[in-house]
Amino acid sequence: MKVCILMASPRKTGNTAALLEPFMEELGQHHIEHNLIWLYDKRIEPCIACRVCQKNWTTFGCHYNDDAQEIFDKIIACDVIMLATPIYSWYCTPPMKALLDRLVYGMNKYYGDKMGPALWAGKQLAIIATCGYRPEKGADLFAEGVKRYCKHSQLQYIGMLAERDLGYKSVFMDTEKAQHSCLFAQELINHSTNSSPVS
Ligand SMILES: Cc1cc2nc3c(=O)[nH]c(=O)nc-3n(C[C@H](O)[C@H](O)[C@H](O)COP(=O)(O)O)c2cc1C
Repeated sequence: MKVCILMASPRKTGNTAALLEPFMEELGQHHIEHNLIWLYDKRIEPCIACRVCQKNWTTFGCHYNDDAQEIFDKIIACDVIMLATPIYSWYCTPPMKALLDRLVYGMNKYYGDKMGPALWAGKQLAIIATCGYRPEKGADLFAEGVKRYCKHSQLQYIGMLAERDLGYKSVFMDTEKAQHSCLFAQELINHSTNSSPVS
């Protein structure tokens, strides 16, 4: 099992990073390979719907020569995609949205003259989010969007861990949140070991 963590917080020592830490430690304890990609460090252009990617059914095929190609390769090589993001305006932050748009076309060859394959079909996807509102009012719309995204892309949606930030004057991380993060990693591991291998 390989986990690819797409991290979309601009704050390297922010809340989302703090919540991700125990999750990654737990993966490490189980010797699960994972790589962390900081999306704010990457150049990810927005999709312009040119559909060049639809001409090739075996590769990404995007006309842009930016960092999305390297991320595409890492996703193809993994079993589980973890979307880690603070909630901005009820969705993920801009680099993750740009990447999701690039991948929904580059991975899903549905938009050419004929219906093609989803190159990432069968992979698992989960979310770690932090938000200012209670998670059911802060991260619910993102979770719903991602669920539909997964169904459309033939990905298996596993679930979301979302935790609340009570503001800049409060301390975000505590033992309860750390425990939730560890448990989420364990659930993911159990889910992956009990489900059929990803082709
Ligand atoms: C520009 C901006 C927009 C935000 N929009 C929302 C929002 O729509 N809903 C919400 O619940 N929290 C919102 N928040 C709060 C953040 O999601 C929250 O503080 C988060 O924990 C920040 O994570 P970070 O420390 O990893 O950046 C917003 C914060 C910022 C800076």
